[in-house]
Amino acid sequence: MNYMKLLITGGAGFIGSNFVHYWVKTHPEDEITVLDKLTYAGNLSTLDSIKDKINFVEGDIIDEELVAKVMTGVDCVVHFAAESHVDRSIHDPYVFTRSNALGTHVLLETARRLKISRFHHISTDEVFGDIPLEADWKFNEDSSYKPSSPYSASKAGSDHMVRAYAHTFGLPITISNCSNNFGPYHYPEKFIPRSIIRLLQGENIRLYTPGNQVRDWLHVNDHCRAIDLILQKGKLGETYCVGGLAKGISNIEVAHKLLKIMDLPEDRIELVTDRPGHDVKYDVDWTKINKELGWEPQHTFDEWLEQTVEWYKNNQSWWKPLAEESEQFYQTKGEEVLK
Ligand code: NAD
Ligand code: TYD
Repeated sequence: MNYMKLLITGGAGFIGSNFVHYWVKTHPEDEITVLDKLTYAGNLSTLDSIKDKINFVEGDIIDEELVAKVMTGVDCVVHFAAESHVDRSIHDPYVFTRSNALGTHVLLETARRLKISRFHHISTDEVFGDIPLEADWKFNEDSSYKPSSPYSASKAGSDHMVRAYAHTFGLPITISNCSNNFGPYHYPEKFIPRSIIRLLQGENIRLYTPGNQVRDWLHVNDHCRAIDLILQKGKLGETYCVGGLAKGISNIEVAHKLLKIMDLPEDRIELVTDRPGHDVKYDVDWTKINKELGWEPQHTFDEWLEQTVEWYKNNQSWWKPLAEESEQFYQTKGEEVLK
């Protein structure tokens, strides 16, 4: 299916902005409106090079009047806007319920009234809880919901409401639940960009103890291609799980890979106090999107990681002011270095 007028929420954040860049390049004939509140995680500078090709509206997805205005005439909504950082959800959980659960509800209600042709909801594998380290099963589209942080619980709430609008009102929706993304324009608070930036600044990687937690890393470009395929060929009402090629890689292994790529000694890792309620392992089975839509990641984790390090080396003016804010968050929230 071809769309002509897209509303992209959260398009000034990490994944949303990569998607806006991707869409402008691959579907230049389409009209894009970005709605973004520009929270600490939203950055207009990320969209600078394409600012003449999109309509940018600064605003909150919870603002019903504004949402109705920007959604009028749109065929497809791609919904990224959310509070996205688990550590912040531990310190300030209400804002997560507000933006992620209630904000999504406002968008759904407006989409229903305006008879939008497609509402695609970006969600996370974290709604499924975590997997014991020793287990070899993975999350898939049939996994039960068992969120453990205020962040993942608020995302789970939004997924349920999206499905309720499909079931009750026939809203034409699709959902994708993806694993941890990484790549350009990733806010410095998250593990991979934070570690690269700290190393570039002569600081050590801060590894949450004991460092054996496992994530399934998905490059943001691969994720954007997956969303495109779901929009073009996905079945209405369906959910697709999207993950990467980095199977079973622990945080400490990621840290060692970064040190190797950056040619730095092994002692540049510092263990710090762990996050309360830390999910030990995520792993996503992406067989469905592979079989039904022909999607697969384009490069290995190591190849994408090298490119990501390169990007952070070459784009210091983008991350420098943001890294300061991000490190301040960690300092004031009491991260403790373990001796
Ligand atoms: P991000 O924090 O980098 O960006 C979020 C964007 O949403 C920011 O531009 C922010 O200003 C905007 N925003 C926040 N609240 C808003 C509101 N109330 N109204 C309007 N705009 C608002 O997040 P991200 O990493 O790009 O994540 C995008 C989406 O993908 C989220 O829904 C997240 O749950 C999901 N996701 C992310 C990852 C990941 O690894 N980053 C993994 C799985 C799923
Ligand atoms: P993060 O990027 O915050 O994503 P999420 O918690 O949503 O998976 O963290 C990824 C993993 O890295 C997680 O296990 C926590 C860990 N971590 C660190 O060890 N050090 C850090 O400085 C950060 C930010 C995260």
